[in-house]
Amino acid sequence: MQDAQLQELLKKLTLKEKIAQMVQLPPTFLNGEGQELGVRAGINVDEETLANIGSTLNLIGAEQSRRVQEEYLKKNPHGIPLLFMADIIYGLRCVYPIPLALGCTFDPELLEELASATAKESVASGAHVTFSPMGDLVRDARWGRCLESTGEDPTMNSRYLRALVTGFQKGIDKKDGEPEGIASCIKHFAAYGAAEAGRDYNTVDMSERTMRQAYLPSYKAGVEAGCEMVMTSFNIVDGIPATGNKWLMKKVLREEWGYDKVLITDYAAIAEMMKHGVAADKKEAARLAIEAGVDIDMCTDCYASSLEELVTEGTVPEQLIDEAVLRILRLKNKLGLFEDPFRGASKEKEASDILTDDMRALSRRAALEAMVLLENKEGLLPLCPEAVKTERKKIALIGPYADMPNMLGMWAIHGDRSAVITLKTAFEEVLTEEQLSVHPGCEVLQDKDYTELPNIREAFRIPAAWSEEKADAEMDAAVKAAAEADIAILALGESTLQSGEAASRTRIDLPGRQLELLTRVRAAAKKVIVILFGGRPMELTAVQPLADALLLAWFPGTEGGHAIADAIFGKAEPTGHLSVSLPRCVGQLPLYYNSFSTGRPYDGHSPEPFLSRYTDCPNTALYPYGYGLSYHSAVYGPTEVSSHFLTKDTSITVSAAVKNTGKRAGTEVVQLYIRDLTGSVVRPVKELKDVQRIHLEPGEERIVSFTITEEMLRFYNKDMNFVSEPGKFTVAIAPDSSCELTAEFELN
Ligand code: NOJ
Repeated sequence: MQDAQLQELLKKLTLKEKIAQMVQLPPTFLNGEGQELGVRAGINVDEETLANIGSTLNLIGAEQSRRVQEEYLKKNPHGIPLLFMADIIYGLRCVYPIPLALGCTFDPELLEELASATAKESVASGAHVTFSPMGDLVRDARWGRCLESTGEDPTMNSRYLRALVTGFQKGIDKKDGEPEGIASCIKHFAAYGAAEAGRDYNTVDMSERTMRQAYLPSYKAGVEAGCEMVMTSFNIVDGIPATGNKWLMKKVLREEWGYDKVLITDYAAIAEMMKHGVAADKKEAARLAIEAGVDIDMCTDCYASSLEELVTEGTVPEQLIDEAVLRILRLKNKLGLFEDPFRGASKEKEASDILTDDMRALSRRAALEAMVLLENKEGLLPLCPEAVKTERKKIALIGPYADMPNMLGMWAIHGDRSAVITLKTAFEEVLTEEQLSVHPGCEVLQDKDYTELPNIREAFRIPAAWSEEKADAEMDAAVKAAAEADIAILALGESTLQSGEAASRTRIDLPGRQLELLTRVRAAAKKVIVILFGGRPMELTAVQPLADALLLAWFPGTEGGHAIADAIFGKAEPTGHLSVSLPRCVGQLPLYYNSFSTGRPYDGHSPEPFLSRYTDCPNTALYPYGYGLSYHSAVYGPTEVSSHFLTKDTSITVSAAVKNTGKRAGTEVVQLYIRDLTGSVVRPVKELKDVQRIHLEPGEERIVSFTITEEMLRFYNKDMNFVSEPGKFTVAIAPDSSCELTAEFELN
């Protein structure tokens, strides 16, 4: 349809019909079924609104979406198709590692590729828009939604957001042939990742400078990549809920960034403005949201019940409604829904385009690139499968994740859990029956048992709790198996529902009896390898000394078992580097490498007490941002600069020799860190500015170079202008963020 036709169509709609386009309701309102994860209370809409609502969410499946669309179109007086949106966060049926793990790949092209593969599954299944990616930066591991973030670094988060949006939307507006791509909705705008004390939905309070410098860049990158939708966040921004925050939505998003597409709320966020205490009733909440430029009300009846009155009494100009509806119609049109309301979704397409071999291979590769080898004492890993076989070595695979299909993480709500390759399955492909014994050893203790929420128990396949006798017997059996084996491999971690939305924790170490299991196995076994599953940066201080090798697999996705077996038996090497700092102790949080210098910085050694330090714990991370081992080893030469002077019109080159001193080829994630020594405002002690993934053959040495320009040195100065300031900088090329910045240059 031409834009002029859309405008004509808009003119034909009554005010009530227009407002209905701005309402999104769960599929149950349309006799459809879907994953409902929100708090839905008291939504009242009449038949006329229902016949005209603009969108629904989390209804997946070609057959069902076609049926719901067909029924809907029979009732819609103008033949405007319904939009199907869904939480397709890191894969639909084929699931990739969680975003926090994807952040460890330092490989945005990979993220683009898997987003594009996800879009293919989504098109087949009838989804038009995904509520992904999440651009929220994270610094506090207590927050369960760390799982959905790509990490703590603004530069990398921006690159990942750009890649994911591009991948999801590839081909979205193509006019001929089969539909491709889905619309990407970036979220949660803004700063939702900074919930105080890591408690979900809690207050956010930060300076505009920190917000612009650290938190906003990733969303901006998503907008620049052309995302078709933005979602407001639940939190307040400078005292005003984001959903009614004109400064954020109008000034920053629409005016400064030029965003002219659809803005949707998070689930029930308009109504929540009443709970926040900035709106007395639904009508006031609706007014605040429409005045902030919010186009779609997700799952409340605030817009449906109040906008008409607000317009007719003259409080809200109808123009605002028209603008919002036009944006929604434009999105429907871009997706080609007026020509094909099913957008090519079909059972046949589902059969050919879902969980394909290529997708599985991509999921396996992504899991390998994402997993982080934290320890490998005496080069225990990789195990050589030939030697393991000829020497008839026995392996005891122990732990709740030894044979657990539930390793997709909380937000894989549409993931095919029956397609998951467990560790046991993958190990059986490598080892003989006599060589492998498998024991759960203990449970992954839930913080709660979800008995009152049977739908959640069922959806996430939460097993029934063990009796005390069974728990003791299982642990004894596992310890016995470890004693009889040559190597004990423990698969431990958090449970699926301990990270993700509404899954904040005050304790972030191994839950339940897992540490007890590890301690007993350590005492009994010759060698201990720990594989860790989870969705947040966990506290591993107690685990570290007990493991000969420690592999952080996160929630690795559908092909997790295969990928881990590939790494353990050396078919491939893990190449992940931490996207977040792993704390020594929960009390250090929030913890991030790019913090500000205090007036009393602590160097880690000084006996002086009056410094910014703890009395009982170092300031540093147990494992720093950017850290990760592999099966090769690398040595970095000194960082050198091509010139000590840089101007606005010139650039300098920073280089270092990187040599593979190991016996295997490998991938190095070479990182460039910079510090601005003096500025008109305090600058971070270190900032990642660039990264290169390079392949090195054994013994190979390469000079790795980065270009530095004045543009890379800009920040929000004392007057909130984004500029660089003349002065000295230090710089280093390094394997992780714990490096010393040794080289210097000056910007004139
Ligand atoms: C609430 C979550 O915060 C958001 O991320 C999600 O997309 C919506 N619910 C829709 O399910």
